[in-house]
Amino acid sequence: MTSAMTNAMTKAMTNTTTLACSRRSALASFTLAAAAGCQASAPFAQAPDSEPHPSAPPSPPSISPLATPVVLSTWRHGLPANAGALRALARSGTALDAVEAGCRVVELDCPDMTVGLGSRPDRDGFVTLDAAIMTDDGRAGCVAFVQGVAHPISLARLVMEKTPHVLLAGAGAEQFARECGIEVAPPKLTPEAERQWREWLVEKKYEPKVNIENHDTISMLALDTQGRMAAASTTSGLAYKMHGRIGDSPIIGAGVFVDAPIGGAICTGLGETVLRTLGAHLAVEAMRAGASPQEACEHAIARIIAKNGDPKSYQVGMLALDYRGRVGAYAVQKGFNYASGTNLVDAPSKLG
Ligand code: GLY
Repeated sequence: MTSAMTNAMTKAMTNTTTLACSRRSALASFTLAAAAGCQASAPFAQAPDSEPHPSAPPSPPSISPLATPVVLSTWRHGLPANAGALRALARSGTALDAVEAGCRVVELDCPDMTVGLGSRPDRDGFVTLDAAIMTDDGRAGCVAFVQGVAHPISLARLVMEKTPHVLLAGAGAEQFARECGIEVAPPKLTPEAERQWREWLVEKKYEPKVNIENHDTISMLALDTQGRMAAASTTSGLAYKMHGRIGDSPIIGAGVFVDAPIGGAICTGLGETVLRTLGAHLAVEAMRAGASPQEACEHAIARIIAKNGDPKSYQVGMLALDYRGRVGAYAVQKGFNYASGTNLVDAPSKLG
């Protein structure tokens, strides 16, 4: 990072403190409005992020739509996800439709057994799923610790579109799924997941393997030709995690964050390390302060390493995108790849 960038970020952080007060009053109005049965979307319309501030960094350029959409997804399973997303866009779908469609592809068929109902279970033998979806106007929906739902990403979208909430978890999220007519299947492992879990039970050693158990998420960013950006993430989290563990993926600002007219960022890897730093938010705020998407990813990964100790023991991969279609990609360790449109790309990494 350049020192100009560091100064700009310090300034931006000072501004954030001031703006936080206005946001608190917006949230307070929301609580009262919700209690009165008013429309859920009100607080976002009132959010003060676009208000000018005397010492704010220069306004970013306004969004001019690109001629072709951009779709990014984490890991090799991002290739079929991007194909699904591009199909949705070809059917005149929005960036939001694209990330939902892409995530659904991998939720149905994830050879890594790290997304969807075919995943490896937690240490007690239950597959528990997390997902989040966000649009660049500040709308967001998330589900955490849900069981028996084939498409948690679509449930997350329903939380965003049909409830006044952002995050539903566990039995409450499953109840909401049933209310929406979504089947909630009884807990069941696939034969392969059950075989691997029983093998794991022999030693019960909890030791996530970098780029294997951490190969754990499909996170996506899409920018459509109308200049709308959306982000999504869906995962079963770490294999053999403690029952009840929730990672970064369903937490807005940790696994996903997108904000017009700045850009978006998404994460994959060991969720605890991302949660401690709100990695995706960190990267977007770095872009707000002037960083390119690549600089933003490097900045966020450096912070993740600074907060989490020995980087040899975990992997985090991060992607960022701005409205000019510029892409950033960076990881803690070698081995993180991502799909950019129809291409698979190896990301650079801190540890080389
Ligand atoms: N990054 C996904 C998780 O840790 O659950």
